[in-house]
Amino acid sequence: MRTPVRPVGRRITNEALYRAVVAARQAPSAHDAQPWRWQVTNGVLDLFLHPEPSAGLPGPEDRLATIGCGAALHHARLTLAALGWRVTTTRLPDPGEPTHLARLHIDGPAPVSSGTAGLARIIELRHTDRRPVTGSPIPPGHLSAIRAAFESQHVRLAVLRPDQILGLAVATADDGGLEPAGEQWRSELARWAGGDRIVGARRRLRLPLAHDGHDRAATFAVLHGPGDQSLDWLHAGEALSAGSLAAAELGASTLPFSAPIEHHRARDILRDALPDLGHPYLMMRLGHHATEAVRPLDRETTTASPSRPGPL
Ligand SMILES: Cc1cc2nc3c(=O)[nH]c(=O)nc-3n(C[C@H](O)[C@H](O)[C@H](O)COP(=O)(O)O)c2cc1C
Repeated sequence: MRTPVRPVGRRITNEALYRAVVAARQAPSAHDAQPWRWQVTNGVLDLFLHPEPSAGLPGPEDRLATIGCGAALHHARLTLAALGWRVTTTRLPDPGEPTHLARLHIDGPAPVSSGTAGLARIIELRHTDRRPVTGSPIPPGHLSAIRAAFESQHVRLAVLRPDQILGLAVATADDGGLEPAGEQWRSELARWAGGDRIVGARRRLRLPLAHDGHDRAATFAVLHGPGDQSLDWLHAGEALSAGSLAAAELGASTLPFSAPIEHHRARDILRDALPDLGHPYLMMRLGHHATEAVRPLDRETTTASPSRPGPL
């Protein structure tokens, strides 16, 4: 005979949902705008895009905000799983209300795997790291694990080959149309390709050869998928969270770049360089940073939480 499932008290489930909302505040979002609104009602957690788009319907200009909401959604889902709850997630639950992005319902208790508990602890520690990548390249085994984490959320991660990064660096080097948001992307690619040597490379019709090993320690990748609608952007955000947390757990830093999805020209450049690309959602830089030796004195003044660099 099956053991009857005991109904879970509303107070207990609401408390878990509130904890998920608190954890979701740590999610990455463009300009740190945190463009979401949560609502807890009768044991159900609803996620809304906030502020509401002026046209009522999320358009391409709401892509970045929806990606941020997706990251917050994944943070909330992971937190509830780590608290021992089985949750049903319905994305875009109300066709008549397109800014209502997701609904989470607690179905009942569930066992917690050590992997889930460990990843949820990383939520506190993950942060966007804009420092130059100075450490050794991410080993292939770690890169496969990070890629699998990104791709567990219905999107693909295209890791760029060196020739593709050079192609992008050359294509963006002489392009004045990428200012100002594209400048960060351009300079990251140029740093990888060998700094100033890339400037004017297209006119000289040759790629720079010399490089410093440190510059090339960074891995560049593009998060992409088959569609360009709210649901796809939500999945992209969930992937950003899953992949960034997995990377942080393996000691790798993440830096998302939105320029390639904000500008038509940048999207075209990406598509030309990567013919198999679907719709690009975000470009990612992954890397390791050479660790600085911590003297015993420094240890006492170092706080447990990593510094959170300012928004864009
Ligand atoms: C959709 C999206 C686009 C972003 N684009 C950029 C970017 O182009 N450049 C950048 O430095 N950071 C970018 N970020 C990172 C945010 O600035 C960062 O998440 C935010 O400042 C909060 O900091 P945290 O990630 O350390 O919590 C982006 C984040 C998201 C979710």
